[in-house]
Amino acid sequence: MPEVYFDLGDALSYIAELYDTKDSPTVDEYVEFLEIAGFEPVIEDDIARLFKFLLYLTKAKSVLEIGMSIGFSTTSMALAVKGHGGRITTLEMNEDIVPEARRAFKNFNVDDVIDIRIGDANEIIKKIESESFDVVFQDSSKRLYPVMLEDCVRVLKKGGLFLIDDTLFPVMKERSDWNDSTKAIHEFNQKTLKSGVFSTLLPIGEGCTIAVKL
Ligand SMILES: C[S@@+](CC[C@H](N)C(=O)[O-])C[C@H]1O[C@@H](n2cnc3c(N)ncnc32)[C@H](O)[C@@H]1O
Repeated sequence: MPEVYFDLGDALSYIAELYDTKDSPTVDEYVEFLEIAGFEPVIEDDIARLFKFLLYLTKAKSVLEIGMSIGFSTTSMALAVKGHGGRITTLEMNEDIVPEARRAFKNFNVDDVIDIRIGDANEIIKKIESESFDVVFQDSSKRLYPVMLEDCVRVLKKGGLFLIDDTLFPVMKERSDWNDSTKAIHEFNQKTLKSGVFSTLLPIGEGCTIAVKL
């Protein structure tokens, strides 16, 4: 068993308070601006902060996001890459959400660095050339995670970052019934170990895996 030095909830609350209000937009600010309800959940503020850190560190120029929804993660990542000339390509199959995302991109002044491609990500990715992106972020249907793994790694440049949200579904209490999404994430987590990346899984949000293509 790994050493446990503090209660994880206490640690996450402490970190959230420490960084509160310093990293705009937060999820709350973003949702407040759009004034919409009933959208798919977005990444948490601490994950957005981690992604920004990694994008500033690597000066990533090309990011592929799989699963845009209202575009909170897209905006957050775009803010981090815009300063060094980076761009985000984001894939989304739900056309209805696109006008809302576009409205937010304009408001947060990142519309000029985001390319939206509407359609099934699993079909679109097959047409993307190998080693096209510095970063791939998977946040679409959980059932697609193991299915798309090979293509996600294929379109990533060597040394590029593979970021994946929701990878702790298998140990989340409210998901202990092991539904299809949970099983798919578990399968993905196991397959990732043999996919040509070096990865680690962090207990933030609903679990976040960060990996580098070897
Ligand atoms: C969890 S949400 C994305 C949240 C977003 N990344 C954020 O943090 O702001 C997942 C999105 O993936 C989209 N999606 C699911 N399956 C997809 C597919 N096969 N192709 C494209 N988009 C898909 C859904 O429509 C949904 O909007």
